[in-house]
Amino acid sequence: MKINIAIDGPSAAGKSTIAKKLAEKLGYVHLDTGAMYRCTALKAVRSGIALDDEASVCAMLEDTDIRLLSTGEVFMDGEDVSQAIRTDENSLAASAVSKLPKVREELVRRQQKMAEEKGYIMDGRDIGTVVLKDAEVKIFMTASPEARAERRYKQNIEKGIPTSDIATIAEEIRQRDYEDTHRAASPLKKADDATEIDTSYMTIEEVCSAIYALAEPFLNREA
Ligand code: DC
Repeated sequence: MKINIAIDGPSAAGKSTIAKKLAEKLGYVHLDTGAMYRCTALKAVRSGIALDDEASVCAMLEDTDIRLLSTGEVFMDGEDVSQAIRTDENSLAASAVSKLPKVREELVRRQQKMAEEKGYIMDGRDIGTVVLKDAEVKIFMTASPEARAERRYKQNIEKGIPTSDIATIAEEIRQRDYEDTHRAASPLKKADDATEIDTSYMTIEEVCSAIYALAEPFLNREA
């Protein structure tokens, strides 16, 4: 049978990389929900809207089309923003808009609608706790702050994204961890029924295999 897989965890723990690989293996759709918060932040900044002005950000969002392609590209109102949303500056802006309860409500609504048919691997912060509470497989993916900063640095270089040095990225990661876990609306936390995987010393293949092993019993089951 087709299932949904929820992958939550702090930034740069490897969620998107793993989700993408697994989606390819299973023929599922990968949905990077962080990209939706990133688009919201980018448009708000470009429009000169204060990131704590909930009413204005929400009104803007209602009029915003966000498309996540299976290739990983992200389109906002028809524009390819795949690179623009990944800057360090926009990462902090995304963290700020993700605190707004009404913004979360709207994006969660869109995410739930997309995953109505099974076959989704969603990664984010609140997938197992809010968006897909009934996902058959729930993962809470972690890694040490050092491992995460190094990965994000390498990823930025590979993708040609302007990047700060590793120490600055590590500091930003710490700041985002704090904000993501301490916000009032759907803070990042492990769902009670999620399996925690620390990826600090694991290869991508090892992590994929571990999650696949959790999914396999469901995949072989009759719908
Ligand atoms: O996964 P990411 O780093 O691209 O996420 C960007 C920001 O969006 C991050 O600071 C937390 C927030 N976010 C969230 O609150 N809920 C999600 N489901 C996904 C991301």
